[in-house]
Amino acid sequence: MDVLELKRKAERYGQGHLFRFFDSLSPAGRENLLRQVVSLDFDMVGRLAGEFMRGANPAEPAEEIEEADIIRLPRTEEDMQRDRKARAVGEEALRAGRAAVFLVAGGQGTRLGFDGPKGEFEIGPVTKRSLFRIHAEKIAAIRRRYRCALPWGIMTSEANDARTRKYFENNGFFGLPADSVRFCVQESLPAVDFHGRIVLDAPDHIHMSPNGHGGSLKAMYASGILEWFASLGADTIYYFQVDNVLLRIADPTFIGHHILGGADMSLKVLAKKDPYEKVGVYALKGGKPAVIEYSDLPAKLAEARNPDGSLKYWAGSIAIHLLDASFVRRLNESGFALPYHKAEKAVPFVDDTGRTVKPREKNALKFETFVFDALPLARRVICVETRRWDDFSPVKNATGLDSVETARRDMIELYSRWLEAAGAKIPRDESGRAINPVEISPLISLEGENLEPWRGREIGPMTVI
Ligand code: UD1
Repeated sequence: MDVLELKRKAERYGQGHLFRFFDSLSPAGRENLLRQVVSLDFDMVGRLAGEFMRGANPAEPAEEIEEADIIRLPRTEEDMQRDRKARAVGEEALRAGRAAVFLVAGGQGTRLGFDGPKGEFEIGPVTKRSLFRIHAEKIAAIRRRYRCALPWGIMTSEANDARTRKYFENNGFFGLPADSVRFCVQESLPAVDFHGRIVLDAPDHIHMSPNGHGGSLKAMYASGILEWFASLGADTIYYFQVDNVLLRIADPTFIGHHILGGADMSLKVLAKKDPYEKVGVYALKGGKPAVIEYSDLPAKLAEARNPDGSLKYWAGSIAIHLLDASFVRRLNESGFALPYHKAEKAVPFVDDTGRTVKPREKNALKFETFVFDALPLARRVICVETRRWDDFSPVKNATGLDSVETARRDMIELYSRWLEAAGAKIPRDESGRAINPVEISPLISLEGENLEPWRGREIGPMTVI
């Protein structure tokens, strides 16, 4: 590594400040910094920073969008038949080993006030099962039900990779065979300040952050996970986020619609609670299927209504996708690039004396790609509506909306509904809410089955099934 050459290169790109503490660094510190500088793509960082400083955003606010085709929840007998047929096709695919699952878990639990991989957060209302354990037990139950391999790929980030792997090891992979789970690490990008200068968060360290969940489409391919799926005969990849406690992993009806529709990529949506719920909206943009992130949707579109008063753009994406393996391969082999979105964040930086400062105000830009930006690149997209109460309750915040509290409550409600359907008695308060916390292991019941032994029994507080 020629230090002088690297220094000159950094200076040429207006990033000479990266070396401002270099002479006073220890040999190890110098090596740390040089290792990071060598791997920087100065061209790309300069281009992104330049675009944003000029005010351009690749996610142009969506001025013109149109409603897209969506397979709605069943209302008629015909719809129910349609869904039964899809489910049979999905179950057949599961039995044939055509399904794989891929989890994006590169984020940290910062918004939760949790210092570590979000998946370790203990969310179970009674048992305190972690998010990772809940997902793992669902996967184990599906493997058992359909006698399939259901290989599981997990994307981590540099910040949480080692700790995530250790967590799985320490927990015996939650009963799954260790060789049915593979990890990959997503790429990172440097943060830049509002003048386009790369941020040092220590004299010998550049502040890097994961490149967004869009990075999964590359990481899945580059890490060999896609090939591993293919070697097991799996060509239909169920993609999901770590924070949704209720999601129906590898939902056979969804898989069936995706296969019957011959889709490259599919997504699940639900009716937004209100115009400003923080979920992306599925619609046609420039005639192509797209998810428009809530922050990019102008108020007049978010609030647009049909004559009957319902929201015109009602379809909120819950970040659940199915990907055809050939689509992911094609994207990578054709050198695709997803657009970068910018986020303004408060990023730690070193002051002139070399001390790390943690600012309260936003001081820097981070760049991220989003997986749903692959939708317009797909030849065919299928979108399926789902029910909130049995598919979506994300743990984003410590309190309030989409929080630990709401997720636990939604889990208790779902399990209580299942038990009621099986003939158990659920004590409820005047507002109709189940009073007693109850938790059902996915290993016992995935969608309300196997609960007959509870017929006629009253569910007491802190029941674990
Ligand atoms: C996201 C979606 C939103 C969707 C909502 C549903 C985006 C930009 N928005 O919102 O459209 O309606 O979820 O809950 O995604 N992750 C990585 N690597 C990264 C960044 C994120 O693996 O670099 C993972 C996280 O671990 C998490 C998921 O992606 O599992 C979502 O990230 P998050 O930042 O929480 O997305 P939201 O803005 O809440």
